Amino acid sequence: MMSSAPADRSDSGRVSGAADADGARTDRSQGAVRAGQAPAPAYGGYASAGEIVHIVGARPNFVKAAPVVAALAKRGVRQSVVHTGQHYDDRMSAVFFRELGLPRPDVDLGVGSGSHAEQTAALMVGLEREFISRSPGLVVVYGDVNSTLAAGLVAAKLHIPVAHVEAGLRSFDWTMPEEVNRRLTDQLSDVLFATSPEAVGHLAAEGVAVDRVHFVGNPMIDTLLGNIDRFDTEALRSRVELPESYVAATLHRPANVDNPEVVARLVARLHEVADQIDVVMPVHPRGRAALTAAGLAEHPRMHLLEPLGYIDFVTLVRASTAVVTDSGGVQEETTILRVPCLTLRPNTERPVTITHGSNRLVVDSELPGLVSKLLAGERLGASAVADVPPLWDGHAGERIATILADR
Ligand code: UD1
Ligand code: UDP
Repeated sequence: MMSSAPADRSDSGRVSGAADADGARTDRSQGAVRAGQAPAPAYGGYASAGEIVHIVGARPNFVKAAPVVAALAKRGVRQSVVHTGQHYDDRMSAVFFRELGLPRPDVDLGVGSGSHAEQTAALMVGLEREFISRSPGLVVVYGDVNSTLAAGLVAAKLHIPVAHVEAGLRSFDWTMPEEVNRRLTDQLSDVLFATSPEAVGHLAAEGVAVDRVHFVGNPMIDTLLGNIDRFDTEALRSRVELPESYVAATLHRPANVDNPEVVARLVARLHEVADQIDVVMPVHPRGRAALTAAGLAEHPRMHLLEPLGYIDFVTLVRASTAVVTDSGGVQEETTILRVPCLTLRPNTERPVTITHGSNRLVVDSELPGLVSKLLAGERLGASAVADVPPLWDGHAGERIATILADR
């Protein structure tokens, strides 16, 4: 069944002429469009030379940037936010700005979707123009998406220092676009903020000078802990029809959703899970068509939703019996929430979520059996470990801001 999630879905799926994060309209057919041509930006104004410029573009970037921008604002540091427009649906972008207190972006480059080459090229052209006009003193990039690498490349060639938040993660799987993005971004960065000790080790092994690397904790967890009082299951239930108990699922990795044969197998496994317990799945736009074509909705206990806003999504996860996912961020969030997490991937760049959390890497054939064990009360993975990953304490944004402000 396809039930509707809260909020307006009118712009879902649009790839051109979409509303940008602050509601201004951008025409993606005409390349980069300045939202700043609209009335005065709400944050920071147009950059004067030397300020910090944050580059965000895709859903996980917003969750990571929010605490860093807030902590720098508290210190009175001059900064701007540039949205590349890699993600543009309200549910993939603007909702995070509304919910997480992120300032309205100073500009939305309106880059939108395309092949890797098309998207990366458009990102670089838009960002180069923007950096030349702004002359930032420092560019801050987040995570491992195409917007991250494009900004790193452009900044490095303009001799603008780059700070990378979430540096040093490695899946050692070069088939993942994110592994390419994160490794190259680290090579281009002057300041590298690591979220876990093994990330520091990877950077050292790759020859990154130790004085560039700072182990600061995880800003995504700052956002989680900073909003913990807002994850109200009853409020979510009043807006979204939810079964009493359920598995929450998300899938969007190319390896899982781009190949119809793989998709058909995963849908069959999810249906086997749904034979045992309801499955609630906010569907990422990347996999929507393939999953639908494979009959994902054709099980009475499959509940498909549009992508959820951050507060609703974490509320959904927190109240779930278990999570099935291939998301990077969700592996981290379930680690703190202590929700069993079955990650449909052969590797993870976030092993700390296994050693200090409730995460477990699985292949699809294991899913039904593992869910039945969970329903029988068995614990999986290291979820009995009492400690959380070091420095995942809600203060990573503060640490990053202190280091950046001192520069
Ligand atoms: C991107 C990141 C991935 C990250 C994910 C988070 C890269 C290479 N990948 O993957 O690391 O985990 O974001 O969600 O940067 N689409 C929409 N509306 C949107 C955005 C996308 O419909 O607002 C659809 C388009 O059909 C698009 C497809 O999703 O072609 C993929 O979008 P894209 O940004 O290229 O990659 P993601 O799969 O979202
Ligand atoms: N998320 C969300 N709504 C959803 C699915 C995910 O708000 O419907 C949040 C999730 O909590 C996490 C972030 O988006 O913080 C991660 O995004 P995603 O899984 O898309 O990317 P990844 O972390 O894999 O790069």
